[in-house]
Amino acid sequence: MSFDEIIDRRNTHSSKWDMMEPIYGVSPDDGLAMWVADMDFKPPQCVLDAIIGMTDHGVFGYYADEASYRAAICGWMERRHNWAVDPESIFTAHGLGNGTALCTAAFTDPGDAVVLFTPVYHAFAKYIKAAGRTITECEMVNTDGHYTMDFDAYDDVLTGKEKMLMFCSPHNPGGRVWTQEELQGVADFCVKHDLILVSDEIHHDLVFGENKHIPMPNAVPEISDRLVIMTAPSKTFNIAGNHTGNVIVHDKSLREKFATTMVAGGISANSFGLYMAEAAYTGGDAWVDELVAYLAENKRVFDEGVNAIPGLKSMNLEATYLAWVDFSGTGMATEEFINRVRKVAKIAPNDGTTFGLGGDSFLRFNLGAPRSVIEEAVSRLQKAFSDLQ
Ligand SMILES: Cc1ncc(COP(=O)(O)O)c(C=O)c1O
Repeated sequence: MSFDEIIDRRNTHSSKWDMMEPIYGVSPDDGLAMWVADMDFKPPQCVLDAIIGMTDHGVFGYYADEASYRAAICGWMERRHNWAVDPESIFTAHGLGNGTALCTAAFTDPGDAVVLFTPVYHAFAKYIKAAGRTITECEMVNTDGHYTMDFDAYDDVLTGKEKMLMFCSPHNPGGRVWTQEELQGVADFCVKHDLILVSDEIHHDLVFGENKHIPMPNAVPEISDRLVIMTAPSKTFNIAGNHTGNVIVHDKSLREKFATTMVAGGISANSFGLYMAEAAYTGGDAWVDELVAYLAENKRVFDEGVNAIPGLKSMNLEATYLAWVDFSGTGMATEEFINRVRKVAKIAPNDGTTFGLGGDSFLRFNLGAPRSVIEEAVSRLQKAFSDLQ
């Protein structure tokens, strides 16, 4: 398939396209949807074939025997990430929002706190707070558009109530691919403060250039008794609507807790999600390689155009298709740059404020779209801020 193809998603119950007007006031008639993290591409043919196979058969009963599905996941992790997953350690959640909520329920109690390194994927806080836990925000350090963690400073931020860290690797937003030393630092921090470490690695396949994602269990095998990893085919293959993601728990006692929480929630997987995931992880390698090359060029085009606007700075993404643009150099109030982007450029990105401490001067733009859309977005932004040039 060609990633250049424009597929009209309006009026298809697309969250990204059909909710941008009610939420951001940007009409889908002439606006560009660059918020929700799904892409405007079809998935690989092997995934479409899996669904066609299901509809050809035509009976949609309960699914059982996950052996081939689990083998496909293990195969992908081994081939693409050099990571040996024990098939018995794989749980299937309704996506990783659900995975986050399940980990919160399994590994913390009401009144406990969960640590986030902010700015970070906005929905973590939503699920955690709704469960009656609090958030301890540890703001990352932004050095010339590059996020790092300052563990010494975080020691003083913790209140003693923290039981878990929700870590994002690669990081959304900002696109950091954490190094071995950084992952070691995270593990040491968790040991020091006795935290369960949940490593959300949903963006692990979309990594650019020389950067190399290291699965947390490979980086720090010594902390497996406090480690949980979350992965999903949803971002990689653009199949988020199937709401299927994996929570991988190698430690036996954590696994028992998690299994009980799954049963308490009555969670069992959706057969469409299982068929799609198995097909993707079995036959999607070449498609993902092409996708990553395409996204890398989208990122280059976007960054070149946006960084040419005085006062705007797009972070150099090492991973993810989620550009994180700092407007602080414009000297404008948040409301003003948001208004220019929504009302003048007619683009709907995510507001940085929703990502927690450190996000206020940012907007997040989704680059998972045909190149012509990225070029159009750049040209609209250049016009909307032309008085700065
Ligand atoms: C880091 C991260 N975790 C989880 C999710 C949500 O995953 P799901 O759609 O599987 O609930 C996202 C979606 O953007 C994400 O970026």
